[in-house]
Amino acid sequence: MAASGFSGKTAVITGGATGIGLAIARAFAAAGANVVIASRKKENLEKAEELIRASAAGGEVAHWVLDVRDAEAVDRVAQEVADRFGRPAEVLVNNAAGNFVVPAARLSPNGWRTVVDIVLNGTFYCSHAFGTRMMEAGVTGHILNIVATYAWTGGPGTAHSAAAKAGVLSLTQTLAVEWGVRGVRVNAIAPGPIEDTGGAEKLFAEPRVAEAVRQSVPLGRFGRPEEIAAIALWLSGEQAAYVNGACIVADGGAWLNKGFLPFFDG
Ligand code: HXC
Ligand code: NAP
Repeated sequence: MAASGFSGKTAVITGGATGIGLAIARAFAAAGANVVIASRKKENLEKAEELIRASAAGGEVAHWVLDVRDAEAVDRVAQEVADRFGRPAEVLVNNAAGNFVVPAARLSPNGWRTVVDIVLNGTFYCSHAFGTRMMEAGVTGHILNIVATYAWTGGPGTAHSAAAKAGVLSLTQTLAVEWGVRGVRVNAIAPGPIEDTGGAEKLFAEPRVAEAVRQSVPLGRFGRPEEIAAIALWLSGEQAAYVNGACIVADGGAWLNKGFLPFFDG
């Protein structure tokens, strides 16, 4: 997609102040879009806004303080964004997530509820608020959900997040069909382990764990946020106009590395 491909369009990225979301926000800004980032911590949003503005190619950059678990607030922000830019946002990236490592036997009901609320419920609230406005205005839109490959495999230590991501993947497929007929595509990206993110800080903090994770990736390294952002931009643009209901895996081949000859090195 040429840098001008998103001129005049608006992309909203939840959790866009850090990690993968920030890289996605910068990529849309560099492609000419108006960029809105939305999450809970104002200080992070303000810092990120400056970084995104430095990448911008003509579009505006704005932030909204938002907890995606609050359906009413989500709806209000979707309307305020539409009012500010004169039409509903064309792109929504459901990137916000909460996660922590805990054995399922020690996960409290509130711990479960918290992660499912952010990841699954938050994704639905945002998709509904922004997606219905796209459809009512006749906007050709794109909703992109950031999931994880443990949506298919489950993830020991992350039962809550894996179950929620599986739900988001299913939602991606349902909405792609329901809303595709009205001009809104819905897709997903499943990143593998990505460096320089809140996820890496939390899940792979111990060097021993990080090294084991690295070794499980056939390409032998962590991914970079910018590599996920490039896919997000492509999926949201004209060149992917026929891609709907898909999930692009970007994990260096890690989730396929499950043969029963673990010592086989090719
Ligand atoms: C056990 C925990 C816990 C932990 C929180 N809880 N951390 N339980 N182990 N490490 C429990 C609490 O005890 C509480 O339950 C409940 O969860 C809610 O906790 P709060 O702190 O009140 O929640 P809140 O302030 O809303 O914060 C949400 C959060 C927090 C998810 C807990 O970590 C957060 O805000 N995270 C956002 C950033 C983030 O996680 N980024 C990583 C995304 S990466 P009780 O029962 O005590 O009341 C990612 C990687 C994917 O998803 C895959 C990689 C391959
Ligand atoms: P991150 O840096 O921690 O980003 C998560 C963002 O979500 C934060 O900016 C946070 O901002 C926001 N957020 C959390 N709870 C929120 C809420 N209730 N309402 C609004 N915003 C909220 O994590 P990341 O690693 O870049 O993860 C980004 C996405 O990629 C997530 O969907 C994650 O599951 C997925 N993923 C990551 C990896 C990885 O290796 N990093 C692998 C697979 C998938 P506030 O705290 O300001 O609210």
